[in-house]
Amino acid sequence: MNPKHITSSGWLRLLALGSLVLLTACERPPMDTVQNGYRGTGMVQVYNPRIMEGVIEANQPPAPPPPASPEGPKAGDVYQNVKVLGHLSVGDFTNLMASMTQWVAPEKGCVHCHNAANFADDSLYTKLVARDMIKMTQTINADWKNHVSTTGVTCFTCHRGEPVPKFVWFKPVPQNAGADFIGNKMRQNTPASSVKLASLPYDPFSSYLLGKEPIRVAATKALPTDHKASIAQTEKTYSLMTHMSASLGVNCTFCHATQSFGKWEGGPPQRVTAYHGIRMVQALNNEHMLPLTDTFPPNRKGELGDVAKLNCATCHQGAYKPVFGAPMLKDSPGLAALRTAFEKMATAPTDGPAAAPAAAAPATQ
Ligand code: HEC
Ligand code: HEC
Ligand code: HEC
Ligand code: HEC
Repeated sequence: MNPKHITSSGWLRLLALGSLVLLTACERPPMDTVQNGYRGTGMVQVYNPRIMEGVIEANQPPAPPPPASPEGPKAGDVYQNVKVLGHLSVGDFTNLMASMTQWVAPEKGCVHCHNAANFADDSLYTKLVARDMIKMTQTINADWKNHVSTTGVTCFTCHRGEPVPKFVWFKPVPQNAGADFIGNKMRQNTPASSVKLASLPYDPFSSYLLGKEPIRVAATKALPTDHKASIAQTEKTYSLMTHMSASLGVNCTFCHATQSFGKWEGGPPQRVTAYHGIRMVQALNNEHMLPLTDTFPPNRKGELGDVAKLNCATCHQGAYKPVFGAPMLKDSPGLAALRTAFEKMATAPTDGPAAAPAAAAPATQ
């Protein structure tokens, strides 16, 4: 048909049909917006209320355990094989066992980790993992207050009532370029939900959340000779940023004043919290998850035999603060390093996101 013969209403219909096809990949209005920067900076968070419903449902805190007495005999004196929680009163210890069951294995109960005939027995790998998980959780709460503040984390933050947390990552199997007619995909162009199905590199994690490659790609000087970052590094950085935004359910402006992505001054304090979060995840993966490689059975490992590792989604699960900031740690003193340390921490928070960004921000390379 000659285009001249289409009437103007025909064109309109064609246009409407065309845009309908194009927009199927978009989210439909109405959207909610929340301003988080000065007026005129365009720093606005856009929320889709229909997606938020699911995120809100996934981030409901569990019922707190009944309060227990910190007085009385210590678990270390009463039980036979207590290596991490010996300082707790028997009341606090029993409370924590009940909470851990609710957070990690509500269906199987105590026997998920215990040999029912002898609770002191260490024969189940789940008990060995759990002992390290207790240490990891204490480390997060005691040493990473510059990220988790006094809100802290419990087993529930990652597990949400499941033995295996919903969001973990493994090393991807390298593409068999020789046998693959598509050609070398350069570790990208394979949509991964962890980076919001972008055609960006699908594994920013090995470089930035296990390895410690610098996340600096913007030029700091005028001349290109001073600019060292490659296109590949830049794309991988964007991939990590996409993962971070998606895990927290936020836009880039939640952490950046977008006139300059590299500049720390004038940016939201959340970027400093995120900076510490990146270091925290690196440390937890290297010091807590990797050493557990031999403890896990093969069916819990990745295709390359590596252990499951953490990223931002493991705790955040779509919320800007995991479980929308519900302070669960206060009900589980056993997961703060020590009760006394916990009490000090609860009354006098000294660091955290309020710390001056300039002081906490690293020098650019
Ligand atoms: C997610 C794993 C897990 C679950 C579920 C769990 N426990 Fe434990 N339990 C442990 C770990 C780990 C230790 C050792 C703690 C340590 O070394 O400080 C332990 C130790 C114990 C001990 C001390 C045994 C001894 O003599 O050394 C008792 C008693 C106990 N648990 C009771 C329970 C009860 C009752 C339940 C169910 C309500 C339960 N646990 C559920 C992981 C678990
Ligand atoms: C920061 C996130 C995080 C926290 C907090 C956390 N875990 Fe885990 N946990 C993991 C990851 C990741 C795995 C490995 C998942 C896999 O096997 O694929 C895991 C695995 C486990 C397993 C082995 C499960 C299985 O069936 O193989 C147990 C048991 C466990 N955790 C108990 C706990 C307990 C108890 C706590 C609280 C004291 C806790 N975890 C806190 C992330 C976490
Ligand atoms: C949750 C906070 C957060 C979000 C959301 C976020 N970023 Fe970042 N971004 C950071 C932090 C922190 C760094 C610095 C990391 C470091 O130095 O280790 C950074 C670094 C960068 C850099 C490198 C800057 C330089 O100095 O070279 C670019 C570019 C960037 N982000 C772009 C983006 C884009 C694009 C988005 C949205 C898709 C985004 N960021 C979302 C926190 C965030
Ligand atoms: C071990 C669990 C855990 C992991 C993993 C984690 N976070 Fe967090 N994050 C928290 C907790 C808990 C808070 C809430 C702290 C508070 O109440 O101030 C938080 C708060 C934040 C905030 C501040 C939000 C605000 O409005 O003040 C940012 C930004 C953030 N996280 C970014 C990240 C990024 C980026 C990653 C991945 C590199 C990450 N987090 C990984 C537990 C975690």
